[in-house]
Amino acid sequence: MAKSVEKVLEGADVSLSVLKALAENSFDSILITDATKDSKIIYANKAFKKLTGFSPDEVLGKTPRILQGPATDNAVIARLSTALKTGGRFEGKAINYKKDGTPFIMYWRVVPAKVGKNTKVWLAIQREGTTI
Ligand SMILES: Cc1cc2nc3c(=O)[nH]c(=O)nc-3n(C[C@H](O)[C@H](O)[C@H](O)COP(=O)(O)O)c2cc1C
Repeated sequence: MAKSVEKVLEGADVSLSVLKALAENSFDSILITDATKDSKIIYANKAFKKLTGFSPDEVLGKTPRILQGPATDNAVIARLSTALKTGGRFEGKAINYKKDGTPFIMYWRVVPAKVGKNTKVWLAIQREGTTI
């Protein structure tokens, strides 16, 4: 967060609640996973439910792989997999599936949140795309 924002907020507790409010109210879907091998979901916002039909409660502890299906492009997922292994960033689009099975174009970005060199969690920003 920019220095001036931190200065105005004068404390970590407040800045965390600001970030929470941003995530809760974002028009884009936001997912946070842990940094284990399976990338288990530890947070999903309301826009995730609007996009996928899955409520935040029902995806907690699961992997975002639940969004994948037969038409999901394996090459895109392999690229994401490499980013996860190397602590890098990913941006791409692929066919994903809503809770009711409807396919849609997922356009998303995944970035690590690191403390020092260690990735603590992964953050994803997701929206529906129009062209693959
Ligand atoms: C934060 C985060 C968000 C993810 N979001 C999606 C997603 O929206 N759609 C998708 O197809 N895969 C998503 N994935 C990828 C899968 O969880 C998984 O990492 C990917 O399939 C590679 O693992 P695999 O090769 O074992 O399947 C996400 C991963 C992370 C870490």
